[in-house]
Amino acid sequence: MSANGAPPETDEFWIFGYGSLIWKPPPHYDRRVPGWLTGYVRRFWQASQDHRGTPEAPGRVVTLIERSFWASLVDAHDSAPEKVWGVAYRIQADKVAEVREHLDIREINGYTIHHAPFHPADGSSPAFRTLVYIGTPDNDQFTGPQDPQALAEHIYVSEGPSGLNRDYLLGLEKALDELSPESGDAHVTDLSNRVRELDRKRREGRFQVEGFEHPVSHEFKRVSSVDEQEETEKT
Ligand code: SIN
Repeated sequence: MSANGAPPETDEFWIFGYGSLIWKPPPHYDRRVPGWLTGYVRRFWQASQDHRGTPEAPGRVVTLIERSFWASLVDAHDSAPEKVWGVAYRIQADKVAEVREHLDIREINGYTIHHAPFHPADGSSPAFRTLVYIGTPDNDQFTGPQDPQALAEHIYVSEGPSGLNRDYLLGLEKALDELSPESGDAHVTDLSNRVRELDRKRREGRFQVEGFEHPVSHEFKRVSSVDEQEETEKT
């Protein structure tokens, strides 16, 4: 950290991944460092029309929500780890323009570019600036809080050009588990457990993918003044 508490400026170009970028790295990286951001909450609140769903039946992928904004919402998953674990990649200096172009296309569906201080888990350096793709609440694909069981069912039945939506969820759970003994995320684990249960039910003929209705509404509720006290106690 510099004297004013801001992360040091660096000429190096680093990207932080908290979703598919953890297990599907960008091209031309020469370092991969596990670690975390603070001040955000990871949630499956971004509709995906291009990777894990289609425009007619969008899937669900993760985005980051500013923690203070998340605390103002009603979320059935009412706690979230302080650290959003993921991976930072350093891109080879002569490939930065090419990689940025590649990622701007890959992450186009509602994600915009932000910057956040990244904390390397190995403590090899102080926090440094990384680029991160975030689907903010003002983008069309942002869904806001969803009932966990409805969300798990939605993920279970969705599929897009990059594959099954449930493989994205289970891939994220596995990739997080591999980063560190403390990198798990209860939101991801709970959805994964529900998806595994749906798989059991489907094999027993108790859950059907065919004919599943994708909800169209993306309305979300803010904490009312009555709920405020309880909700501000989210950790
Ligand atoms: C990311 O991985 O950092 C962004 C979200 C995604 O592409 O899954």
